[in-house]
Amino acid sequence: MALLHGSSAALFLHVCLLSCGAWAKVELTMHESVEVYLGDSAQIPCQYSFTDASSEPSFVMIQWFVRAVDSGSRMRIFYTDGSQQMVDNNTDYSGRIEVTSGLQGTHLVIQDVQLSDEREFFCQVNGLAAGNAEGKTQLRVFAPPEAPVIEGVLAGISVTSDGPSKVASCEARNGFPKPNITWYKNSAPLMSAPGHVNVLILVTRESSGFYSVQSTLEYKVAKEDKDAHFSCEVSFFVPAAIRTVESNSVNITVHYPTTMVELWKESPQGLVKEGDAVELRCQGDGNPPPPFIFNREQELDVDLESSGDMLMLTPVSRKDSGIYQCRPLDSDGYTEVKGEMQLTVHYLDPAVVVPKDSEVMLKGEDLTATCNALSSLKTTTVWYKDGQQVGKGNTLHLKDATYDTTGEYICEVTVPSLPALHTSGSVHIIVQGGPQLEGVEQEVQLEEAAGRMVNLSCEAQGHPVPSITWSIIGSQNWHEVVNKANEHMTHSVVSVKVTSDISALCNASNDMGTEVKAFSIKAIPSITSAAPFSPAEGSGVIIVVIILCLLVLAVLGSVLYFLHKKGKIPCGRSGKQEISTKEKTTKDDIVVEMKTNTSNEGAVLLKAVNGDKKGPNEQ
Ligand SMILES: *[C@@H]1O[C@H](CO)[C@@H](O)[C@H](O)[C@H]1NC(C)=O
Ligand SMILES: *[C@@H]1O[C@H](CO)[C@@H](O)[C@H](O)[C@H]1NC(C)=O
Ligand SMILES: *[C@@H]1O[C@H](CO)[C@@H](O)[C@H](O)[C@H]1NC(C)=O
Ligand SMILES: *[C@@H]1O[C@H](CO)[C@@H](O)[C@H](O)[C@H]1NC(C)=O
Repeated sequence: MALLHGSSAALFLHVCLLSCGAWAKVELTMHESVEVYLGDSAQIPCQYSFTDASSEPSFVMIQWFVRAVDSGSRMRIFYTDGSQQMVDNNTDYSGRIEVTSGLQGTHLVIQDVQLSDEREFFCQVNGLAAGNAEGKTQLRVFAPPEAPVIEGVLAGISVTSDGPSKVASCEARNGFPKPNITWYKNSAPLMSAPGHVNVLILVTRESSGFYSVQSTLEYKVAKEDKDAHFSCEVSFFVPAAIRTVESNSVNITVHYPTTMVELWKESPQGLVKEGDAVELRCQGDGNPPPPFIFNREQELDVDLESSGDMLMLTPVSRKDSGIYQCRPLDSDGYTEVKGEMQLTVHYLDPAVVVPKDSEVMLKGEDLTATCNALSSLKTTTVWYKDGQQVGKGNTLHLKDATYDTTGEYICEVTVPSLPALHTSGSVHIIVQGGPQLEGVEQEVQLEEAAGRMVNLSCEAQGHPVPSITWSIIGSQNWHEVVNKANEHMTHSVVSVKVTSDISALCNASNDMGTEVKAFSIKAIPSITSAAPFSPAEGSGVIIVVIILCLLVLAVLGSVLYFLHKKGKIPCGRSGKQEISTKEKTTKDDIVVEMKTNTSNEGAVLLKAVNGDKKGPNEQ
């Protein structure tokens, strides 16, 4: 079916052949053009009328011609004269056309329109004496092209290249008539502009008669175009309109030089100390990211060994402190692009304690010890002795030394802002002086049952270590059961058999002097085993015995009262003997005095006798 071209619809071709004379002429009207899609059928109308309506011709001959594509000559394709009609044989249109004629008009219908049908069709009307006329219509054929196919350039495009670079190509195939291609960047059309945008067009006429159009976009890429999207649009004529179809969009890889570089410490977080593994990282704004070279500011001609954008320093020492730089290798030389940072490696040296190792003081003397550890950061020093804090700060004042002053002093140096840094040092203080005996102020006085053993204890502090000698008057039977010494104390215990009153001296002496402690032991004559039980414990037994006796007596009394003939019963003596034997077996080993009521107090007394703060089991 034919469509009228909008612009030509109103424009009719009026043909009037004046030669036919005033009495007879034909008016013929045809469209200038008829537009049709390929494959459709086209209808070309041809309207005519005879001006002299009174003399309607009896014979009208209508012929359709077409202009041959190659020679330009006309060729008849159809003939009718009212009595007969025929389609000419052996033309392009044999079998493809039909002509319908009605009152004052005829239509040529062409089936299955081909591209080659785009040509002029002539309609000739001949009424002999009634006159004749001819008109023509241009047939236009349309075939929309296939959807455009775009292809972006995959390789990176450098912003530094001189002119426009190829960015993408676009192809629209098999259209008719020739389609156009327009380029868009981010949906805005790109116009050709010398030095910035070039569009190269290649039009191909296929053997089938279709047009294929290939367009190449050359574009001067800028850094901002790294995110740009390019697309192409094909526009083509269709009957009475122009249509467009857009392609997909493509993006491109833009290469641009580095203009800015940043260098920073990736790890560790926070302050850096000696021994850490430090990772410095360099990053620039160039694409593709260039390799970097790392230097220290003081040795710019020495390239540090790095991998890509990373510099590993491991382990670091204070010598690694300084300013570091990184530069991109693609840097064009005259624009100096670099990243820079300061690395500070903190440290804490071993503590130096003065006096060193160990120091001897005299009793009563003063001493100031110092502890210093060199550090890049503020430090805190604390002194400990036997796990207890004894001082703060890097000096320790020991005043009026006593033997208790003796010992190991440890200074611990820490760095509050970097707790991983800490060190310590120590000094051993020895207080020198004559022996100092424990409890020397008063003579130890004891009482002990004759025949028992008694332990006498003597503990002397002093440096050099005192040696202890005993002189014991009143007993030949004694021996030392404990003799312990450490660097500033000697402890000696002698076990003495009490045979008579004893006076003992413990003589502690060293190079610095002598001190003596006196003991006196009063021997208590031993008690016979006949009555050894204590009154306190015996009284309970006696009460029981008395009650038993009273009961027995009561029973016996009543028995005697009734029987009259029975004698006395001895109850007291035999019971007493039984109990005393029992006493002996249980209490024989336990010492000392009979004055006390409980064995617990006996133990307290025993400790006092030994002159030792420790319990008897610990000796
Ligand atoms: C194609 O471009 C030409 C030249 O600019 C123009 O005359 C024609 O109308 C365009 N065709 C289409 C289909 O846009
Ligand atoms: C193009 O864009 C897509 C998505 O927006 C992205 O994944 C891809 O990496 C880009 N390609 C290039 C070459 O920039
Ligand atoms: C103690 O012993 C020292 C050295 O052995 C001696 O010089 C001193 O006279 C003794 N003192 C007494 C009171 O025995
Ligand atoms: C005296 O001391 C020695 C050794 O520590 C100990 O075995 C003994 O039992 C003690 N003797 C007395 C009567 O405390």
